[in-house]
This record gives sequence, structure tokens and C-alpha cells, in this order.
Amino acid sequence: MKKLAFFLVMLAFVRPAEVVSDNNYATEAGARILMEGGNAVDAAVAVGFALAVTYPSAGNIGGGGFMIIWDGRRAYFLDYRETAPSGAHRDMYVKNGRFQPQLSTVGALAAGVPGTVAGLLEAHRRFGKLPLPKVLAPAIELAERGFRLSVFQARRFKRKEALLRKFPETARIFLPGGRPPEPGQVLVQRDLARTLRLIAKKGRDGFYSGRTARLIVRTMKKCGGLITLRDLKKYTPRWRRPEEINFMRKRVYSSSLPSSGGLILRTALGAMEASGLRSPDAIYYHTLIEALKLAFYDRAKFMGDADFAKVPLKGLRSRDYLMERIKMIPLLCPLPPDEFKFDPWKYEKQQTTHFSVFDGKMAVSNTYTINGLFGSGLVVEGAGFLLNNEMDDFSTPGAANQFGALGSEANYIEEGKRMLSSMTPTIVVGKNGVEAVLGSPGGTTIPSAVAQVLLNLYLLKMDPWQAVALPRLHHQWYPDLVFLGRGFDPGVAEALKGMGYRIKWRRPIGDVNGIYLWKGRYYPVADPRGDGKGVSLRPSTGGYEGITTGR
Ligand code: GLY
Repeated sequence: MKKLAFFLVMLAFVRPAEVVSDNNYATEAGARILMEGGNAVDAAVAVGFALAVTYPSAGNIGGGGFMIIWDGRRAYFLDYRETAPSGAHRDMYVKNGRFQPQLSTVGALAAGVPGTVAGLLEAHRRFGKLPLPKVLAPAIELAERGFRLSVFQARRFKRKEALLRKFPETARIFLPGGRPPEPGQVLVQRDLARTLRLIAKKGRDGFYSGRTARLIVRTMKKCGGLITLRDLKKYTPRWRRPEEINFMRKRVYSSSLPSSGGLILRTALGAMEASGLRSPDAIYYHTLIEALKLAFYDRAKFMGDADFAKVPLKGLRSRDYLMERIKMIPLLCPLPPDEFKFDPWKYEKQQTTHFSVFDGKMAVSNTYTINGLFGSGLVVEGAGFLLNNEMDDFSTPGAANQFGALGSEANYIEEGKRMLSSMTPTIVVGKNGVEAVLGSPGGTTIPSAVAQVLLNLYLLKMDPWQAVALPRLHHQWYPDLVFLGRGFDPGVAEALKGMGYRIKWRRPIGDVNGIYLWKGRYYPVADPRGDGKGVSLRPSTGGYEGITTGR
């Protein structure tokens, strides 16, 4: 009888929980924290720090990102995007009158002031339950004892060998024995373990002042970067209002500026819901392409850090602005990009990684990045972590960035400003509470990928596995190309060509790691395009049933 009562009490307090990320060790770190009594935010912070160790091509403490948190009643948006350092200015990547993309993508000058550590710690301070050292313990252990590289990851190291070889400190850590590590090889990161221990002990002072900060600034001085001790001390994450979108009688919470993700999602979901189209044929995809073009036109022309630039936010969110434009989509042919002359003001009244956690009450959707694979390629000497090349997400007049994206004055470089992002961490809340927690890496393709999973789920009524696996497309207004992901329906591709679209096949679009409510149960779904893993924790008499964690 007593046993039964204990069991019932456990079931009442311990809810099923889910974690999904791009890496098995990181997912297991999150699961471990949940099993130790942590909530979704504790687990998400543990996953974030673990990915910095076990997924160094994108997981990071040297970058930045965005987090959506659902606390059971309302949604919060945490912006921990990098900022432009002191001395940064609009034309800093222009030499002899020409934009020099290698300066904004490789080495010290490409790095913005990192926000990840401040962001994860701020989320933990406000919502976490377990002490910080406990939450960081899995990451520290993984850095100290090492972890085995998957085939997927080893391939990335090989692909980026030239970048990793450029900087001796980076090569020392990531090309052990002078070569890219093989699948199954153990990677140990002692310097990183020391940095993480400092953060566990001192909180933000373990990174933004003291030893780590001095090491960052020393690397900057040695390699021609701009970040100063003052920039680091000054860095602050911001709580902002998330974009809230009504879609198919659900509330979709996603990133607001300085990420364009939520606004792009608003246009794509709004246009497709209004279209009345409900099967994935050529007309459906034609309409989606045009909706994405409208959204990316807005991104290029009007979006940037709204703390610095005047952005027509009411217009961009206005239903009338959306309706005016979707009425202009021709039935069977593309709208030429040069004819886009829309004005939201009059309505004024790869490389990134995503993880999701849900503990039965609270949900966390987090996308963070160092921008390119392995970021700027530069490891902070003695501190063991890679710095971002996020400065390339700013716009330089007349030049496209590494994603081919154009921008306006709203996104030109200014000291202290945040560069425009496309990251789209998202939580969907419906009449059953949390119904989806998802996001993706992929630069400008991120909102396209997230939008398509949401459309597949709620408009086309697919199950979560189909919704995630279905091949995707992307269009970003400029360049005027439809990018089709591997496996996209060749019949639809031919029909789109027939309508006059220029098609380019490319590698998979997005890598959506999410948690979905399906027939009364939650399921973590790792995108088959990536290397991810999801786990479900089910309550048992002792708390949760065990999961295995291995080297
Ligand atoms: N670095 C890619 C993005 O923020 O969109």
C-alpha cells in the first residue's frame, strides 16, 4: 500500500520529459540533469554547455543565440546575440573600395563579443532550480575525460581542416597529432574544462572578467581583433517580447529582432494559412516561394537591431500589409524580385545548432551559433574555445554576406549593435498546452525550414516524423533562385521550372530538432538530416527510468 502511495506521488510530481539536440552526449547531459531533479531550463543550460564541448563546429561558449522559454503560463524571449566590439564601423571590411569577405569570416576581426555564457547563465538565474556547478558538471566531465567523435562530426573536421590549420592554437586542439580526428577517436579538451570550471565557480565573472577575459583580449591583440575588456564586461543579454503569431488557432512564439526569424515565420505562415491550399503540390510550393520572397525582401530592406535602427515593426506585423502583398502573387508564375517595391512604413500605426527541452510544464527552445562551421576558426589561446565569425551577419553596403543575404542601413555595423540573425527558436501553444518546441540551424534557410515543419504539421496534417523528414525548399528574394533540398519531389520541381523559377539543388535544408505532441503523447524527433538524438524520460517509482550515458 505504502509502495503504491509512493508510486502515485512520484507520478504526480514527475512528468514525462523530453530532450533533443544535435549530439548524443549533449542530449544525455540534459537527460541527466532532469533525472537529478532539474527543470527544463537547467537541462537546456546543461545541453548548451555540453554542446560547446561535444559539437564544437556549432555548439559554443564563444558565440551567441536566442532562447524561447515557456514557463507553463507565458513565453519569454532571451536575446544573447553577440554585439559589435569597440571600434567596429560600417566599412571595416572594405579595403581598396571592395568588401573583403575573408575579413568578416575568418580570424579575430570576424568575432563579435560573445553572448552565450551570459545568456545561458541569465536563463539559469531566472528559471533554474539546481546549483550552477551541478548543471555544468556534465560538460566539464566531457571536456576533461573526452568523448568519441561520430562519423558525421569527423566528416566536418575533415571538411574544415584548412580553416582549423590556419591558427596554431586551433590546430593543437582540433587536429590532434596534426590530422583531423577519425570517427570514434576520443577528443579531450583540458583548457576548455578549465574555462568551464571557472564559469561554474564564478558565474559570468568566470568568462567576462578575470582570466578568461584576459585570454580573449590577449588573443585579440595578437591576431588583430577588436574585442576589449570593457566590451566583455559590458555585454548584457536582453529579455524581449517574443514574436507571437496566431496560426491555425494556435499561438506560435518565436524570435523577435535582432533575429528576423519570427517575422519571416509570420509572413510565411500567414500567407499559407490565408491561401487555403492544403496539399503539397506545385501551386502550394509556388505560393510558399512567393511568401518567402516577400518575407526576405522585408528582411533585406527593413530589419536590423531595433535598439539602434528604426524598424517599421507595426507594418511588418500588420495583417493588411500581408494581405496587400499576397493578393499580388500571380497564379502560375514568379513575381520578379526587381518589381518588389513594398512599403511597410505606411502601415505604421550552417552551422548553427538547435536543441529543445520539455519537462512536462516548462519548455525551452534554443538556437545558438558561432555562425560558420567552427566559427572564425580562432581558438582563444589557453582557454580552449572557438570564437564566432558573427560579424559577417552585419551588412556592408552593396555586398552580400556568406549566405548571399543583402541588408540595409538598419543592419550596418555600429559599435555595440547586434547583427541581424535568422535564428528561429519556436514554441507552439494550443488548447492542449505546449504542442511543439522546435528550431533549426542553417543561416537564412532557418525560418524556411521551421515554417515548413509547422505547415506540414498543422496545415497538411502530417505526423511529426513525416513533417520533419519531408524535403524542403528555400527562397530568400535575392539571389533569385529556388533552393531545393535533397529528395525534393522531382515532379513538383519540374512544374516549378515550367512556371519560370530558376532551380538550384543543394544539400539538406535545415536540421530541425523538436519535441511534438502527437496523439496525446510527446515525442522528441531529431532531424534525419543531422546527427541528433532525442530521449524521452518516463516517470517510474524512483523518479525517471534510467538512460544510458557512454563515452
Ligand atoms: N549566423 C546565422 C544567423 O544568425 O542567422
